[in-house]
This record gives sequence, C-alpha cells and structure tokens, in this order.
Amino acid sequence: MSVIAPARLSLRHDFPGVGDWHYLDSAATAQKPTAVIDAIARAYGADYATVHRGVYARSANMTLAYEAARRKVADFIGAASDSEIVYVRGATEGINLVAQCWAAEQLKAGDRILLSMLEHHSNIVPWQMVAEKIGAVIDVVPLTDDGRIDLDAMAAMIRPEHRLVALAHVSNVLGSVLDARRAADIAHSVGAKILIDGCQAVPRLAVDVQALDCDFYVFSAHKLYGPTGIGVLWARKALLDAMPPYQGGGSMIDKVTFEKTTYAPAPTRFEAGTPHIVGVVGLSAAIDYVQAIGLDAIHAHECALVAKARAALESMNSIRLFGPEDSAGILSFELRGVHPHDVGTILDETGVAIRAGHHCAQPLMRHLGVEATARASFGIYSDESDVDALVKGLERVRKIFG
Ligand SMILES: Cc1ncc(COP(=O)(O)O)c(C=O)c1O
Repeated sequence: MSVIAPARLSLRHDFPGVGDWHYLDSAATAQKPTAVIDAIARAYGADYATVHRGVYARSANMTLAYEAARRKVADFIGAASDSEIVYVRGATEGINLVAQCWAAEQLKAGDRILLSMLEHHSNIVPWQMVAEKIGAVIDVVPLTDDGRIDLDAMAAMIRPEHRLVALAHVSNVLGSVLDARRAADIAHSVGAKILIDGCQAVPRLAVDVQALDCDFYVFSAHKLYGPTGIGVLWARKALLDAMPPYQGGGSMIDKVTFEKTTYAPAPTRFEAGTPHIVGVVGLSAAIDYVQAIGLDAIHAHECALVAKARAALESMNSIRLFGPEDSAGILSFELRGVHPHDVGTILDETGVAIRAGHHCAQPLMRHLGVEATARASFGIYSDESDVDALVKGLERVRKIFG
C-alpha cells in the first residue's frame, strides 16, 4: 500500500472567504488571499487612475504598475518577452482571440483542427465557430482508459492537414496532466501550431512556455487566486506580430484618419479600450502570493490531498472515481444511484461546497457515460479537514439515499 504524504501548507487564515467552510470548488474559481483583496482595494482607492494617457503622476505610477505586471506575468510563465503577453478577460477570450485572429486568417477549407475528448467548452466552441465559417474540420484525440489525452493516438492520427492543435494542460474534470512538451513535438512534426489551455495548470504547476515549446498559452487570473475579468494570452512574438487586431477602439491604434487607420504593435494592438487596470494589479498580487509559496509546494500539497481523498472515497464501495491516480488537485466522482446535484445539495448542508454538473465538458460526460459528475477541487488553502468533511458528508448522503 502506498504511503500518503500529509498535506503541509496551512494558509487558511490568509483567505477571509474560507474560514471554516469546506470550499472544494477551486477549479471553478479560487478564493482570494487578503494580499490580493488589499491590492485591489488600494488600486481602486488611493492609487486609482487610468493608464497610458495621463500626464499626471498618479496615472504615470499606475501605468508603471500595469506594465510591471506584464513583465511579472512574462517571468511567471517563462515568456521570452513581456511583449508576448496580451491581457484578455480570461482564458475564454484568449482562445476566441486566437480563433478569430490566427485560425480564421490562416486556415482554409479542408484544413483540420485537433482537439481532445476532455476539453472545456471554451476550447471547443471557438474552434467550431471558425471551422464552420471557413470549412475546416475538427478531429478529436481519444483518452486513455485512466482519463489522459492519449498522445500515442494523437501521434498516429495527426497529419499535415492539421494546422492547429488545442489541448488542456490539466483537465478541469479529471485533473489529468498533459505531457504538453510531447504534445507540442507531435503537433510541430506536421507543422501544426499548438495552443495549450492552462486554466487549471497555472494555479497548480510551474509553467514554462518556452520549455513546453507551445505556440499559444492561455489562463484566467480568477483561478490563480486573482480577480475575475482578467486573464492572459501568451503567444510567440512572431505569431502576434502577424495577427490582425481583435477589436477596434482606443489605445490599439498608431494613427487614425477617416481614410485609414494604422495599428499599434503587439500586444497593445489587441487591447482596445480602457483596460481592466485594477484586475491587472490584482493578478500581479496573486502571482506574488503564489510565488512566495512556490508552485512545487502547492502541487505537492494538492497531490497529497487528492491522494487522501481518493483513498477515502475508494474505500466507500458505492463510489466510482474518474481520472488518473496522479490527478492534479481535481477529483471527479459518482455516488452510485444518487444524482450529483443531490450529492452537492446535501454536502452543502454539511458545510462542504463541491461542483456538480457537466463542468462545461459535455463531450467528456458522454464519453464517461454520465450526465454529470460530482467534483471536489482543492486549492492552496485546502487541508485535511476538507477531505474529512467531504467523506463525512458523503456518508450522510448515503444514509439519506439508503
Ligand atoms: C480547462 C478550462 N479551460 C477554460 C476555462 C474557461 O475559463 P474562463 O471561464 O475563466 O474564461 C475553464 C474554466 O472553468 C477551464 O477549467
């Protein structure tokens, strides 16, 4: 029997939203530490001003903070330059931006896009919209029996018509971790570009986009203990430089006349309008917070909690677990004979918050043969009391449903 390492981080007190609540829905959105909440309050209070345009000191200072955050994001994910960092509303907007400004421009009828069976709708629908418009075809990489993207199958099915591959780094349902470097090598072997959806990876794994050798990488700040409404698209500079603007408006221009408008260089070209200034400040504070703890420590902490939860749930024989043994921070399960919504509702009565539903991954649900799953997802503030409360709550559900 494997020995389960105890979870070691003890950070609950940093999160006013957690308290004695057993919050197991961090994959949907993470609670915020006081450091982030305070940074946001300061940015909306004593420090508040617009960026890029002000001739007064406060605006100049806010601009410095806003652009320093871009450098911080670049360092955080190993980007070669801060000019490769585009601020977007979140991963969803980042993927739509690539679909509209890269795929819609570069792909032609008959070209193919490769996705996987476990993708979030955000990494399916934008590609379908483009594919329909240009007559491209979408193919789907199957999963291994334990719920990983099957890279052997991907290597066997990819061909030169595949111009783009888009895969989740960590599954939001199964927690399975993609060997993103191998996926990139397979994509590049036929000249395809690869986008990695890092929404669930960035809060729990150290990410280096250059080491992964991907072409596009997206994530949302709110899953990284930062604010909603802000996220990041990273792309290789040469790709961004060749992409037309996403939206037109203020800030993204070089020169405007009624005859012709020229555009600012990337990344400014993709950031039309007054940006989410305070969101960027909050994202910067979230990165500081996470880096002070260290992604390796966070990953180890979450793995220990998942291992404890898996062992406890496996010993309840009416439970089916989904996903691989080494899933990162996310555990989906089914209590036989009880709808996941009932499981979630009863758990809520015991102070345990899980997610129940299709998790924006309906094709994966179909593949698993279920309508929905119950999902417990852990964060930096989770501890063993959360696992104990989950197990106790599930015993209550079982008792209620006989
Ligand atoms: C794997 C994955 N991709 C994309 C998204 C979309 O993120 P957002 O809604 O923040 O744009 C999510 C959110 O749940 C996710 O888990």
